[in-house]
Amino acid sequence: MMTKIVNSWNDFDPLKHVIVGRADHSCIPPEEPATSEKVPIDSTMRGMWGPRPLETVEKANIQLDNLVKVLTERGVKVDRPEPLQWNQPVITPDFRTGSMMTCMPPRDTLLTIGSEIIEAAMSFRCRFWEYLAFRPLLSRYFNEDPEFLWSQAPRPRLSDKSYKHNYYDERISLEERLVRTANKDFVTTEEEILFDAADVMRVGKDLFIQHGLTTNRKAMEWFKRKYPDMRIHAVNFPGDPYPIHIDATFVPLRPGLIINNPHRRLPKEQRVIFEKNGWEIVDAAQPAHTEPPPLCYSSVWLSMNCLVLDHKTVIVEASEVHQLEQMDKLGMNVIPVAFRDAYAFGGGLHCATADVYREGTCQDYFPKQDFDDVTRV
Ligand code: NVA
Repeated sequence: MMTKIVNSWNDFDPLKHVIVGRADHSCIPPEEPATSEKVPIDSTMRGMWGPRPLETVEKANIQLDNLVKVLTERGVKVDRPEPLQWNQPVITPDFRTGSMMTCMPPRDTLLTIGSEIIEAAMSFRCRFWEYLAFRPLLSRYFNEDPEFLWSQAPRPRLSDKSYKHNYYDERISLEERLVRTANKDFVTTEEEILFDAADVMRVGKDLFIQHGLTTNRKAMEWFKRKYPDMRIHAVNFPGDPYPIHIDATFVPLRPGLIINNPHRRLPKEQRVIFEKNGWEIVDAAQPAHTEPPPLCYSSVWLSMNCLVLDHKTVIVEASEVHQLEQMDKLGMNVIPVAFRDAYAFGGGLHCATADVYREGTCQDYFPKQDFDDVTRV
């Protein structure tokens, strides 16, 4: 049967079909030029790699399966990837690394723009083959949906030229790291196009892309040429010492409303496009936890990594009492779902999903353009 399967222009229109990741066979990858930056000095994960403990995989899968159940009960169709044996090495003509990672966070790998799904040009060597876990699904969408555009960004080589070496130096203080973020000085070079899909915030005709450790300027130039009818914006968040992925920093809830991590505020001059177009940016609530769970890459700000089901409904992690309360005050109906056991595998509720179908079309949410927009690529 030929039917429309893929369509999604933003993160807030009614969600009808989504991919939810799986934790099976997940590994902590060995250090490599792009990821050593990510493991804090005092983390128990430092210097440690290999398959994640089986009991943690099982606990994560229980919560992922429960998320599937919650979504299914609300009428959202859910597909799942097919995990690889992630403990295999990755060997190419340009590099070699000891293992792969996971397919728990599809949001990093797959970017849905309208009827297109792009396999991202990811900068971690350990994630080089991650898209293969989603190939059975994308192949099926291609067979069944005559309008589905299946694409892949230019495959990066990830040779040594793609990274600044010794960028990660343990003597560098947190303050110096923040200066680097403000100066847009990141571990990746401009040698080739590099981006993770989770650095892209989709708002109809406008794509807001975080320039950080996993996404470079060349990627933004690629998006600009690929989508001449869309507007591409480069945003950066100087309060974030490890800027990886926009979805624990700047999260749209509905047209006109964004929650922003109060430690990583969008700089004043980059806010103008939102202000001129009547968008409200509010500080996100404080996380309920002071530490991420064990063996977790992400910060406590996964509290704001929510999954919006429609303009009035949002799924929030069940223990995040302050975020639940804020959502309620912002007029959202909140569905609490326990998810902390899955965090260590690659993030929160938004990370663990990738849009296949949301209702709606490509809207212009920023029609006022009569000013100097410093974010515009
Ligand atoms: N890098 C972000 C997580 C993004 C989902 C953080 O640790 O806050």
